[in-house]
Amino acid sequence: GLGPTGCPVSAGAAGFDPFENGYQQDPPEYVRWAREQEPIFYSPRLGYWVVTRYEAIKAIFRDNLTFSPSIALEKITPTGPEANAVLEQYGYAMNRTLVNEDEPAHMPRRRILMEPFTPEHLKHHEPMVRRLAREYVDRFIDDGRADLVDQMLWEVPLTVALHFLGVPEEDMDTLRRYSIAHTVNTWGRPKPEEQVAVAHAVGNFWQYAGKVLEKMRQAPDQPGWMRYGIRKQQEHPEVVTDSYLHSMMMAGIVAAHETTANATANAIKLLLQHPEAWREICEDPGLIPSAVEECLRHNGSVAAWRRLVTRDTRIEGVDIPAGSKLLIVTSSANHDDRHFADADFFDIRRENASDHLTFGYGSHQCMGKNLARMEMQIFLQELTRRLPHMRLADQRFTYVPNTSFRGPEHLWVEWDPARNPERRDA
Ligand code: HEM
Repeated sequence: GLGPTGCPVSAGAAGFDPFENGYQQDPPEYVRWAREQEPIFYSPRLGYWVVTRYEAIKAIFRDNLTFSPSIALEKITPTGPEANAVLEQYGYAMNRTLVNEDEPAHMPRRRILMEPFTPEHLKHHEPMVRRLAREYVDRFIDDGRADLVDQMLWEVPLTVALHFLGVPEEDMDTLRRYSIAHTVNTWGRPKPEEQVAVAHAVGNFWQYAGKVLEKMRQAPDQPGWMRYGIRKQQEHPEVVTDSYLHSMMMAGIVAAHETTANATANAIKLLLQHPEAWREICEDPGLIPSAVEECLRHNGSVAAWRRLVTRDTRIEGVDIPAGSKLLIVTSSANHDDRHFADADFFDIRRENASDHLTFGYGSHQCMGKNLARMEMQIFLQELTRRLPHMRLADQRFTYVPNTSFRGPEHLWVEWDPARNPERRDA
């Protein structure tokens, strides 16, 4: 393994492979050696500099001119000519949205599109989240066993995401398949033979997004964030562009649903692995908001994010030239003892848990964070109330291999239906 200047890199840096099972199972543990000994290192396999400590990552988020977000949704593994031809055949032209837009274009767009994310507007979605959570629990509560990912945590956040965006709720299975393809396409390392199938799914997703957008333009007064954008385009066509709307139609579905589905699955897994914490939130639901925050810190659904270095700079005392690409491992920052006391310890009462970087930080910080928090809190309220006696079933957890979006593909839980509180109380 050679560094960017041709010098050999350390053994840890040479061995770093974020598509391997070690990273998938536990990213902060996988880079513990770096956090301790080599807080920024060059990965020859990835062609990225990898940053692992809290303060440095926060400083990178804070300076979005030196550290441009433009590569946030770029394919981390370049695809071959065959897959590229497939994408071209669909007219695939995914471009800047918000998350990967530079200044000065980004801030005015973010401001114009912010209102639907304010607490006052989010309140309108709460009854729906609760109704859906209840309906899905109703379906399996007497079974004594469920895969919470397949039977609840994937579909409910997808339904909420579509509702928030204003997209019709048909085609949910197709959208799930498309979203996974998008994740693999953006942050994964598909084998050459997989690349073509992924490209077809991504191409179809792109065309689907275009069709939904056209339909929305015919009835722009209906609710939802995407139509809000269409209306804003009439006043500010140079800020809310056609390319933005089409790209966001696709990226928004993924941003709003996969992240939240994964975050909830990670949270429930973590809580059930700490039965004491689970019992405490069952007995005192008032602890749920801080438990959610600690889950997002300890085991969040975005493991790492990316920035492009736009001018020569220094990070952790290392000279980093303009043009370098950074993989900033936010999940590692969240386990940095320099910022979080006894950082690996899971403590639902931790006072600074909300300092975590799972939603990013600074001018691009996640706009949907409060929607995500609300959903996670409601899921936990419903599950702790109705299934306090649930426990993790024996299983091996698997993850879609990629650098960034992380959650178990299945989450099997079991319980004794005879002990369901609602039977006992009936
Ligand atoms: C940006 C994570 C849920 C919409 C981001 C970023 C991260 C992130 C890491 C980039 C931050 C940065 O560069 O500083 C998450 C996680 C979620 C979640 C972990 C769930 C637990 C949502 C939801 C929505 C959403 C539910 C929409 C309804 C957005 C948008 C941006 C963004 C629009 C771009 C903001 C900008 O660049 O100005 N999110 N997200 N996210 N997220 Fe989320």
